[in-house]
Amino acid sequence: MRVRKARLPDANAIHGLIRSLSYDGTLLPRSFPEIYENVRDFTVAETDDGEFLGCGALHLYGPHLAEIRSIAVTPAAQKQGAGGRLVEALLAEAESHRVGCVCLFTRIPDFFQNFGFAQAERTALPDKIYKDCANCPRINACDEIAMARGVLPETAVLGPARVEEHLVPLQL
Ligand SMILES: CC(C)(COP(=O)(O)OP(=O)(O)OC[C@H]1O[C@@H](n2cnc3c(N)ncnc32)[C@H](O)[C@@H]1OP(=O)(O)O)[C@@H](O)C(=O)NCCC(=O)NCCS
Repeated sequence: MRVRKARLPDANAIHGLIRSLSYDGTLLPRSFPEIYENVRDFTVAETDDGEFLGCGALHLYGPHLAEIRSIAVTPAAQKQGAGGRLVEALLAEAESHRVGCVCLFTRIPDFFQNFGFAQAERTALPDKIYKDCANCPRINACDEIAMARGVLPETAVLGPARVEEHLVPLQL
């Protein structure tokens, strides 16, 4: 098994896997155009013969914050280390960019604890809130756990550094 940065020809497999896991809300859906535009965010895992096993993405907000998104392994390939290899590759990528904090939202915090993530307050991750949560119909009924690894950001680029100042009506 190997992990490598995704290329455009991987978009079909990435889209298919994410779509298969988004019907029940396990993953946020990603459209083809969104995957094409952001394909450089993605890392894929594959067999030595090039068979697609899974994917994950690192979205950069800036030096203060990055987010692991869309991490998934095909059902047949789960529990054989691919998910862990993907997380480690995305963390190494964040480190290469000197990012101070990596965050994610998940329903399986135990998996990510293995890699040094700890539960965090959602309001401590303003850029993630402004990017996804502010327009999500489940903003006040979210069952995902926010997690972070590193120093929580003291700044934000998509809005004010304190979420409460501008999103009070959303109640978070
Ligand atoms: C979560 C997922 C990516 C893990 O991939 P995987 O290839 O099965 O994981 P690995 O085999 O690398 O497991 C790494 C470690 O995490 C543990 N682990 C795996 N899945 C876990 C889970 N759901 N909960 C807790 N721990 C988990 C493994 O036991 C292993 O621990 P070990 O090294 O002590 O044995 C995969 O199960 C998946 O695609 N799930 C559906 C999509 C999803 O939920 N993505 C996360 C969205 S935030």
